[in-house]
Amino acid sequence: MKEHARQARAEGRIVGLVPTMGALHGGHLSLVKRAKQDCSPVIASLFVNPKQFGPNEDFAKYPRSFETDAEKLAEAGVDGFFAPEPAEVYPPGFNTYVHVEGLSERLEGRSRPGHFRGVTTVLLKLLEIVQPHFAYFGRKDAQQARLIQQMVRDLNLDTEIVVCPIVREPDGLALSSRNAYLDANERRAATVLYRALDAARREMAAGVRDELQLQTLMRKVLESEPLASVDYAEIVDAHTFEPLTHVRRSCYALLAVFVGKTRLIDNLLIESAGTDSEELLFHF
Ligand code: PAJ
Repeated sequence: MKEHARQARAEGRIVGLVPTMGALHGGHLSLVKRAKQDCSPVIASLFVNPKQFGPNEDFAKYPRSFETDAEKLAEAGVDGFFAPEPAEVYPPGFNTYVHVEGLSERLEGRSRPGHFRGVTTVLLKLLEIVQPHFAYFGRKDAQQARLIQQMVRDLNLDTEIVVCPIVREPDGLALSSRNAYLDANERRAATVLYRALDAARREMAAGVRDELQLQTLMRKVLESEPLASVDYAEIVDAHTFEPLTHVRRSCYALLAVFVGKTRLIDNLLIESAGTDSEELLFHF
């Protein structure tokens, strides 16, 4: 992989990387599409990274569909894909980790201890191996994208991080590899995440700025769904991911919710609250 990427750079080509854990869906493919606008070659990585799963999480049962993924990537026009084995990525004796302080400990980091350490460690390795000019991430994992931007800045990496909009089902559910775990009732119930975010957005558009009031509203919507149980529902500053008491600048409404046994996350970026342009508020 290093040789291929090095050669492309030597030829003066612009290298793009789309990191994924496979089980590809339209969200992943939207990143490929975006990457193809800026880069050639576009490389996708497929690696279910054991270091970012907790001991009681779904590493073993995470959906793996290498053959169909390869077909989807070829169809989407990816120039190459990189699917290393865990033992190649983490050979015996592997002992170096990257930890972004502060941001790694909140929200997803608080609920999933060690998760972001695994994400930043594998990402640094991928960025070192491919050394892409651009790497593409979904806003679906907004905190992850922000964390990677922070790591790139702090470690002077030569990659520009591009964050792309969330792709949703027509009923609002954000596409996710973990949606495959949902049975029919849970799939119906899972729309509650987007309904809660949308309720907060409307309330903000109507002038409500109190974080607690917005958070309470999101929780109320989520708790109206018997199959859902809330992990967190927060409004944070879009840059720092610090909680806001009075929502003034661009912010994220962020949710993590169990639907049955499946943990789903979603968010809505709300640009400079106070404007009343609804177009600005939607990020499909
Ligand atoms: P994975 O969950 O496979 O997601 C790969 C990329 O696709 C991430 O940047 C994610 O934000 C993006 N994505 C997922 N669902 C999306 C949607 N509905 N709309 C737009 N983008 C979406 O995130 C990971 O893998 C891993 O943590 C990884 C970065 C690969 C490191 O192991």
